[in-house]
Amino acid sequence: MAGIYDGFAATYVRKRDSFDLTEVLEGFTSALPDNGALCDLGCGAGEPVSTYFAKLGWDVTGVDFSAGMLELADEILPEMMTVLGDIRDVDFETESFDAVTAVYSLFHIPWHDHPGLFARVTRWLRPGGQFLFTYATADYTGYDEFEGTREFMGQALFYSHTTPERLRTQLATAGLDLVDEQHRTIGGETFLWVTAARPA
Ligand SMILES: C[S@@+](CC[C@H](N)C(=O)[O-])C[C@H]1O[C@@H](n2cnc3c(N)ncnc32)[C@H](O)[C@@H]1O
Repeated sequence: MAGIYDGFAATYVRKRDSFDLTEVLEGFTSALPDNGALCDLGCGAGEPVSTYFAKLGWDVTGVDFSAGMLELADEILPEMMTVLGDIRDVDFETESFDAVTAVYSLFHIPWHDHPGLFARVTRWLRPGGQFLFTYATADYTGYDEFEGTREFMGQALFYSHTTPERLRTQLATAGLDLVDEQHRTIGGETFLWVTAARPA
């Protein structure tokens, strides 16, 4: 997958504008402090999530396993601290972020690995900190639970999800409160957009 994203990083960035996240990001940041520290998991080239937060004055750390994506991120948002690595392996200091995002990236990670990641996100967040992520559901894959490939921008990409019910249990087990979940269709693709929070 890292190699696939390396190969079409430039194409991805060129076509990225067809997925307008303005409404999502305005809604998410309205419940956050004016500035703070963000960890953007699967940041890609840094657009639009990392750049949105950076413009607000946040310190942004981006994680991605595609060197090609991070090279573009270095050009687009040079002030972002980047970590080249797998979201499943990275770790940060306890309570080091006010927000964590995994926009259009969590669904590339096998859902069996989500509980471990959710537990780490809870630990990374300061009390009251929020976690925004995009979750695939039957609306996208056609199945209640899915693990396999789907075509996206001409590439066969790996996707994985369980049911929203099991996702809610995973979040609760990790100590995250569900704040908001809604299906949104953006750029013709429907995903569940989830906000969860570490209790204050
Ligand atoms: C669809 S792009 C989304 C990029 C950006 N968040 C956006 O909204 O445009 C998915 C990104 O997640 C990264 N990614 C997928 N699985 C990953 C993993 N296990 N560890 C690190 N990065 C991953 C890919 O390299 C890619 O840059």
